[in-house]
Amino acid sequence: MVEFERLNIPLVTKIGLGYRLISIENGADGALVGTLQVKQSNNIYGADIPLLRFYAKHESENRLRVHVTDAKNKRWEVPYDLLPREQPPPLKQSIALSSSSEKKKKKKKNHQRSVSETDYPGSELVLTYTSDPFSFAVKRKSNGDTLFNSSSDDTDPFSSLVFKDQYLEISTKLPRDASLYGLGENSQTHGIKLYPNDPYTLYTTDIAAINVNADLYGSHPVYMDLRNEGGKAYAHGVLLLNSNGMDVFYTGTSLTYKVIGGVLDFYFFAGPSPLNVVDQYTSLIGRPAPMPYWAFGFHQCRWGYHNLSVIEDVVENYQKAKIPLDVIWTDDDHMDGKKDFTLNPVNYPRPKLLDFLDKIHSIGMKYVVIVDPGIAVNASYGVYQRGMANDVFIKHDGDPFLGQVWPGAVHFPDFLNPKTVSWWGDEIRRFHELVPVDGLWIDMNEVSNFCNGKCTIPEGRICPNGTGPGWICCLDCKNITNTKWDDPPYKINASGIMAPVGYKTIVTSAVHYNGVLEYDAHSLYGFSQSIATHKGLQGIEGKRPFILSRSTYVGSGKYVAHWTGDNQGTWENLRYSISTMLNFGIFGIPMVGSDICGFYPQPTEELCNRWIEVGAFYPFSRDHANYYSPRQELYQWESVAESARNALGMRYKILPYLYTLNYEAHLSGAPIARPLFFSFPSFTESYGLSTQFLLGSSVMVSPVVEQGQTQVKALFPPGTWYNLFDMAHGVVSKEGTYVTLDAPLHVVNVHLYQNAILPMQQGGMVSKDARTTPFSLIVTFPAGAKEGEAQGNLFLDDDELPEMKIASGSSTYIDFHATIKDGTVRVWSQVQEGKFALDKGWVIDSINVLGVTGSKAVMDVSESHVNVSITEQQLYGQGDDGGSKVVMVGMNGLN
Ligand code: GLC
Repeated sequence: MVEFERLNIPLVTKIGLGYRLISIENGADGALVGTLQVKQSNNIYGADIPLLRFYAKHESENRLRVHVTDAKNKRWEVPYDLLPREQPPPLKQSIALSSSSEKKKKKKKNHQRSVSETDYPGSELVLTYTSDPFSFAVKRKSNGDTLFNSSSDDTDPFSSLVFKDQYLEISTKLPRDASLYGLGENSQTHGIKLYPNDPYTLYTTDIAAINVNADLYGSHPVYMDLRNEGGKAYAHGVLLLNSNGMDVFYTGTSLTYKVIGGVLDFYFFAGPSPLNVVDQYTSLIGRPAPMPYWAFGFHQCRWGYHNLSVIEDVVENYQKAKIPLDVIWTDDDHMDGKKDFTLNPVNYPRPKLLDFLDKIHSIGMKYVVIVDPGIAVNASYGVYQRGMANDVFIKHDGDPFLGQVWPGAVHFPDFLNPKTVSWWGDEIRRFHELVPVDGLWIDMNEVSNFCNGKCTIPEGRICPNGTGPGWICCLDCKNITNTKWDDPPYKINASGIMAPVGYKTIVTSAVHYNGVLEYDAHSLYGFSQSIATHKGLQGIEGKRPFILSRSTYVGSGKYVAHWTGDNQGTWENLRYSISTMLNFGIFGIPMVGSDICGFYPQPTEELCNRWIEVGAFYPFSRDHANYYSPRQELYQWESVAESARNALGMRYKILPYLYTLNYEAHLSGAPIARPLFFSFPSFTESYGLSTQFLLGSSVMVSPVVEQGQTQVKALFPPGTWYNLFDMAHGVVSKEGTYVTLDAPLHVVNVHLYQNAILPMQQGGMVSKDARTTPFSLIVTFPAGAKEGEAQGNLFLDDDELPEMKIASGSSTYIDFHATIKDGTVRVWSQVQEGKFALDKGWVIDSINVLGVTGSKAVMDVSESHVNVSITEQQLYGQGDDGGSKVVMVGMNGLN
């Protein structure tokens, strides 16, 4: 690990005097358009761009955009076809500089002038600005709080605004008590809250979790800021939509962006709740992709399943051990010479593989395989031949850029090129005809390259493929430092070691479609591949695609799930997995998880026990291991198998809840796994909590994440919490408190909050079977409640449909309600489109009402646990009270 300070880089320094506003007008669409002129040029990190265009618009009541670019020349920005959004007006050809007297007048008039409310009456955000030096601020109208403020005075170590071709800098002041979340993906070790004085470097990179405080696979320049004022919480979000590499410095009282290109394109989201922020954010960047039902089952993968009989064995062993398993994966082992879209004829002979797939498909299991972007350079390989014929690869000096990944020498497809998208879709279709896979795993797409610089392959040299020395560069390569793209003036902290921007990736002077530079588009690689893969898969059978991508960018959640890459089998990594998962929820990629038990080197038995107890509650739950690690399927240790049966057993019972959260995520961006403050935003104690999490609004997981512990000290926000495993114990937390819970090796504490209705089923070994079992409802009231309400919901559909929505005949949506009053509990439902559930014959056969006796201590709520058999009651149809069906009145044990 290299610490930033040791490199002698001051976190922030003043560079220049900033800009002054020389003109401003209201545009036709209610936007504000101004011109900024540099106050005094200097040459630090290159020449200043003399004139800038400032554009601000309230795009909705809760979204404000501020866009700053060169006033005269078009600059690179995230392509509008890749991430659809409103386009600012074209740049004006000529800009009239105001006369100095006019300037003065304007200056005075404009000083701290705010956009009048008549510009956007309903908006919760207000923009103000100062003219000289130019700065802008965003305020919350309802409480006057300043959310973002780019001004800099003599006491601030940062400049107000720096705008050069390859260096953009802007800062915001922040109150010391603001809690910030986001800015990833990186190997930060301090938990979910941004930690002052660490650089957050955003640049897609394959360095695994080796270097601490380093950029990782994805780039998400967005943060959520949560503040508590007088007991009331306010959250807002800030996105800087820019794909260039950047360092973001958070000092605790300011945040400084240092970006090596593009434009400043800020979006501010008003919140005020954390859920509002992700809703507003994903309404801009795209709603999370709906996932098929089976994707919520358990997945087993490993690099090094050498042949078909090994995976046959794995499936059988899961069955024998009675551990649920939905999906079996192969890494590059099924491939011929590690080449995408091929089958190894000896180890994975097609006829036998097809028989195996028939067998597992018949019981509802699925099969997913890996695909890397690097296409082997091999004249007799069809995928390569067709790629060359269609001219789909990224180029350098006019030739396809040469790199090396697992198959040896490769070219990288340019997914910004529409021809590449068609070619890729066609390759997926061809492969699908060969092997009917159920999903694709797109890996190494940062993009990862084992070589540095410009490489050639000497005549006759055969690079090894696969493992062993396969990852050592075997090409002849020269570092390129003679272009301003390969050696930019400002060095981001790439790979956590201030590596060159082309380190272990494509050289940044390489060129994509339409002359786009790798320098600018680097972090969009995985995102563009995700879009192309989604299109390809959906095109095949019109089914809902399942794609897992390692590299992600703003908007990736619309297409893919994500896993957190090559983690380590350590307790630290088990803990980071929770923070990273929670961050990805905020990034709009709710289907996320980490390699359970760690990718490498080798987990201890105890760690693997604890990891499955956490991983069983990741939205995406997969065990995966490195080629060199010993086998770590959950049945390998009897103790782990027992923990897995327990934890995954519960997962499979709450699948309907997880699937309903999938629907909510798709509808409003709501994360599936959430920090506690999403449900308890005013509970400041929970703001930094990184070792517990919520599933949806009401299920809380409090795992053991420390070696040797058999108890866990868990934070309980105020209210009654019921242990989901036995429903006979619970915790009443009066004001929000830590409670020490027993957690022997096979026990994970999962609690259900009061006022909830949780739909559960009976579980099973495969989600397809679990889905058909009768439902039960768990209804929770505060301990001893005499009066109260509870609510929950359920979404059911045919999960093969590409769309996920309430629709006649193909889905059912149910709102459950319950009340307790005068000793009577009523439970009823409001059903939308009941036919789908009716046709499937789904029934609720029990309702458990918890917490209603009032006289009983909550540590033992067993006497208030009421089992009601209502077999034959259905989830649909008209009841006596018009629309409600399940009604319970005056049941035993209630008073
Ligand atoms: C990368 C992936 C890992 C995979 C390996 C081989 O390291 O992150 O999951 O097993 O490549 O394909």
